Amino acid sequence: MADGIINKNIDVLKPSVSIEVAAKAKKLQEEGREILPLTLGEPNFDTPRPVVYCAIRELLNGNTHYAVGRGIPELRERIAKKLRKENGIKWSAGQVIVTPGAKYAIYLAIRTLINEGDEAIIPCPCWVSYSSLVTASGGVPVELELDFEDNYSISEEKLESVCTPRTKLLILNSPNNPTGHILTREEIDIIRRFVLKHDLYIVSDEIYEKIVFDGRKNISPGAFVDIAERVVTVNGFSKFAAMTGWRVGYLTAPPQISDKIYMLFQHTITCIPGFTMKAACVAFDCVEEAEEMRQAFENRRNRAEKILAGCSAISFNRSEGAFYMWLRIRFKNMNSLDLSDYLLENTGVIGVPGEAYGPGGKQCIRFSLAVDEDILEEGLRRVVLALGGHL
Ligand SMILES: Cc1ncc(COP(=O)(O)O)c(C=O)c1O
Repeated sequence: MADGIINKNIDVLKPSVSIEVAAKAKKLQEEGREILPLTLGEPNFDTPRPVVYCAIRELLNGNTHYAVGRGIPELRERIAKKLRKENGIKWSAGQVIVTPGAKYAIYLAIRTLINEGDEAIIPCPCWVSYSSLVTASGGVPVELELDFEDNYSISEEKLESVCTPRTKLLILNSPNNPTGHILTREEIDIIRRFVLKHDLYIVSDEIYEKIVFDGRKNISPGAFVDIAERVVTVNGFSKFAAMTGWRVGYLTAPPQISDKIYMLFQHTITCIPGFTMKAACVAFDCVEEAEEMRQAFENRRNRAEKILAGCSAISFNRSEGAFYMWLRIRFKNMNSLDLSDYLLENTGVIGVPGEAYGPGGKQCIRFSLAVDEDILEEGLRRVVLALGGHL
């Protein structure tokens, strides 16, 4: 195609590796190979029934028209109350915008804050879409490699090492996909000093907030008064309420930012469906169901760790949250792409190669805990044996 037809920031976008890998698994399955896909990034649970019934009732009652743009007041009030009570974030319902998934909230925030050529620091390994969303917005993603040995902790030296006069934004994700790391209070304090010193903004992706293990609690940077004016907090219903397909996420930010984000929202989305927003209100009441799912992920992590302990080629930091096992595999000098092919060939198990998550993932593979327990355990056993371990 002739140069210049496609916007240069869009032309360079690459397909998401995790989606490609999932498609590869599906194709092999259709060809009749026994595949154990440990790639999924969504809970293998149904959406709680009360949420589904609410949506059906709403549809039957004609809730099929345009809804209030920022989100129906009932839902925004519930979100603002949740953010105040659980996260210590003070913004009112007027500063909440309900979005089609957290992903679009992240895009809106980045697109609104980044000017052409601005740099966004993205601690890695990280979720596959941040860099592309920065690039699509005309910004420059600066992938900051964190270390397996430090459990991927953020330090002042690391942050300073990539900061330039063009740095505008820091993108945080805690609990982290893929590593399962949760930012500690010490890391948050380092981040606070750093953003104040360099006059930066934060997009804080807290989509796995409720999937935390060993009694941990996630800390929201937006709760700290010294930086609250600089933080866009993103969350949603996909993971904690098993509502990936419903596409309900949200963001909150200080008025001077959220009002501008809303301009972009208005001109691109209008609103998300009213019946899904009504159903999302009900999801907040499904506390027991959410806790059952969280507990299942924690149990699976514990089982997975026991199985993997029998293999010296595999090392890992204990997953603190989200629903993934992030493994470093030292086997015949293979990188993550070779490893995932090797495992697929020899075991039928498919995970996402670490290279998909930026620097720091070269020898790593992400296996999902959001799969049927029998498949998970069988898959991990096969991996251990294929890598010379014992059960
Ligand atoms: C870290 C992270 N952020 C955001 C998202 C997107 O969430 P949503 O389904 O609400 O768009 C995902 C989904 O995999 C994720 O892993």
